[in-house]
Amino acid sequence: MHVKKQFAGLVEESTLRKAPASFFMTLRDIAFWVRSARSDAALAKLQATMGLRESLNQLYRSKCDPWGATLRRFRYQRQKYETLISMLPRRQYDNVLDVGCGLGEFARQFTPYAGQILGIDISSEAIEQARQMSKGFTKVRYTQADIYDFGAQGPCFDLIVLADVLYYVVPLTDRMLKVLAEKIAGLLAPGGLLLLANHYFFQVDQASRQTRYIHDFFRRSSRLVSVAEYARAFYLATIMKRIEVSTTRRL
Ligand SMILES: C[S@@+](CC[C@H](N)C(=O)[O-])C[C@H]1O[C@@H](n2cnc3c(N)ncnc32)[C@H](O)[C@@H]1O
Repeated sequence: MHVKKQFAGLVEESTLRKAPASFFMTLRDIAFWVRSARSDAALAKLQATMGLRESLNQLYRSKCDPWGATLRRFRYQRQKYETLISMLPRRQYDNVLDVGCGLGEFARQFTPYAGQILGIDISSEAIEQARQMSKGFTKVRYTQADIYDFGAQGPCFDLIVLADVLYYVVPLTDRMLKVLAEKIAGLLAPGGLLLLANHYFFQVDQASRQTRYIHDFFRRSSRLVSVAEYARAFYLATIMKRIEVSTTRRL
């Protein structure tokens, strides 16, 4: 069993699965980055004339899988989800929330480890496509929601996944981040985990610096404590635990 030593929590925990073997980039993988960058550029163009939700709907309607999450010819995303899962402590995840789930690839891959998974996305088009792709996945449900408006029956999630979503919150101010960190902490059951993942390449580019800022901001939240952090090519993953304020500990 794979054991991680980076956990600053009180107990060292084993993880859900082994990390996949790393792979070399090929031309196909480079095509993946070009595709994602083009999708971001198309989204920015749409946003000049309409709001975020409608822009995302248009993008998902006009381009099959804009960020290549489900396309078998691109290995990067699939490997990213496998690696993210391999970072999580081995425990019972009865109730999981995937925020900005897109086409639901992470949710589908996570089903062996979860009781039930709810995927939410601001784009109704993404949600519709995710539902079509998830027929037969009885543990997975989807609903259209903006994370800022999403409400649940109290703090009920054992795990919340927030992967590659925050670049699309515009403007991403401290106030917006504070509201979001509070919201996520409020949705987590005590002891529940947040898996936050965003693009990262050693703070070389602007997006990586923004990622570092976002993750540090969440780590400073009084209701979340950082338990592990992994810098991988090309993303940063931070796992945080919801705790009561009086027992806050930091890495
Ligand atoms: C780049 S995709 C990432 C999808 C998925 N999390 C993954 O890692 O493959 C970003 C997703 O976030 C969604 N999104 C953006 N802002 C959102 C918000 N405020 N609330 C919910 N979903 C949002 C978009 O519609 C899009 O599907």
